[in-house]
Amino acid sequence: MGTKLYIKTYGCQMNEYDTQKTVEILKKEKNIELTQSPDDAEIILLNTCSIREKAEEKVYSELGRINKLKEMNPNLKIGVGGCVASQEGENIFKRAPYVDLIFGPQTLHKVPELLDQEDKIKAVDVSFPIEEKFDSLLLPEASGPSSFVSIMEGCSKFCTFCVVPYTRGEEVSRKPRQIFDEVARLAEQGVKEIVFVGQNVNSYKYSESGRILGLADLIQISAEINGIERIRYTTSHPLDMTNDLVEIYKYVPQLVDHLHLPVQSGSDKVLLDMKRNYSFDDYLSIIHRLKQIRPSIKISSDFIVGFPTETKEDFEMTMSLVNEVKFDASFSFIFSARPGTPAAKLADRSTLDEKKERLYELQSRLNDFQAAYSKELEGTIQRCLVTDLSKKNSREMQARTECNRVVNFHFQNPNILGKLVDIKIDEALSNSLKGTLFTQ
Ligand code: SAM
Ligand code: SF4
Ligand code: F3S
Repeated sequence: MGTKLYIKTYGCQMNEYDTQKTVEILKKEKNIELTQSPDDAEIILLNTCSIREKAEEKVYSELGRINKLKEMNPNLKIGVGGCVASQEGENIFKRAPYVDLIFGPQTLHKVPELLDQEDKIKAVDVSFPIEEKFDSLLLPEASGPSSFVSIMEGCSKFCTFCVVPYTRGEEVSRKPRQIFDEVARLAEQGVKEIVFVGQNVNSYKYSESGRILGLADLIQISAEINGIERIRYTTSHPLDMTNDLVEIYKYVPQLVDHLHLPVQSGSDKVLLDMKRNYSFDDYLSIIHRLKQIRPSIKISSDFIVGFPTETKEDFEMTMSLVNEVKFDASFSFIFSARPGTPAAKLADRSTLDEKKERLYELQSRLNDFQAAYSKELEGTIQRCLVTDLSKKNSREMQARTECNRVVNFHFQNPNILGKLVDIKIDEALSNSLKGTLFTQ
């Protein structure tokens, strides 16, 4: 029997991808087996996120609970990886002295050797060569019909509110050959949908034999790999929505009718203070161009309310943009001051209560648009990827629409798991849809 590992992931898709990769490496090099319960684990790893203060505090609360397990089993090894590890480094040992190892997103491939050390050990340097990480990743084992493929690491945009460039380092694009090998290997194992992931996925750029490959090229080439029926990518920056990336929606039917394009704010002044380098009008013009090519494309976004320099008028501009674009399922957060970022030093122009009111107003509007889209789907036939058996009802299966909504439908045939099928949408519920299998 292998060593039992419990691994918990916080944060974004990049962390989920890194967790998968850490597990693959540990399975090969350390004969580990995964457990779903921390209670019987011999190794516990937390792959952490520090995007907002709350995310970071969650990690310390979890560590407190894990320490109780270590008191009962002193041989338990505890490791902290991911963005909190990068940001906090040695401080983690000070706040949680029972932690054995700290590793960063760039050093996850070193976890097997770090686990062999007797002493407490830290390897979190963000200047570690990312190529080394990508070179040491194993070819993937598919775990379902949809799979993430990391195409770049880090971010060089340095938005004034964001920790990512500090925790993940500056942007590095992965070699195209490694990406295509990974996609092909996944397709061979029956994966139908790939999701290209990166903190700033559409700024992908790789120079090879005198030619520069961008995300549009990766999409076009991957679409030709046998078996790939759907392509998504996340998370994009509006500045990098180049013409060729917009145009590719004409030529690649596998590209879904959905794009997550975080705008953060609708106020040009706040966007400038955030160092986003685009305006309200620039953002709208991208959406218009996309909609000309794909009239049914749905746009989702991320918003920050209560950025220190945001006034009531600035917030009203955000609401105008929301009304104009009619965003689909989106994420919105109250600004959280992150250590070491320029925005953390700015004086606040609004109180916490005002920020909460704005968040409430924004989220209510976003929810209304999301619900209206779901309602529009009633009676239509949607091409869906069957992903799972339903969690709640053993006679139902689960699938995903192009705009990533979960559809539960009556179980007809287990052979359709992992396939694209047509489903008639019968009813829109608050967080999912109900449907009937139409054709396979
Ligand atoms: N690269 C993406 C982009 O440029 O939009 C964002 C990736 S970030 C991991 C995910 C989201 O977290 C951001 O879009 C932003 O809305 C939110 N976020 C980042 N820093 C934040 C902060 N300091 N306070 C609140 N929300 C924050
Ligand atoms: Fe953070 Fe995204 Fe800005 Fe990069 S582009 S600094 S990841 S918000
Ligand atoms: Fe969090 Fe790091 Fe991702 S801060 S959102 S885990 S890049």
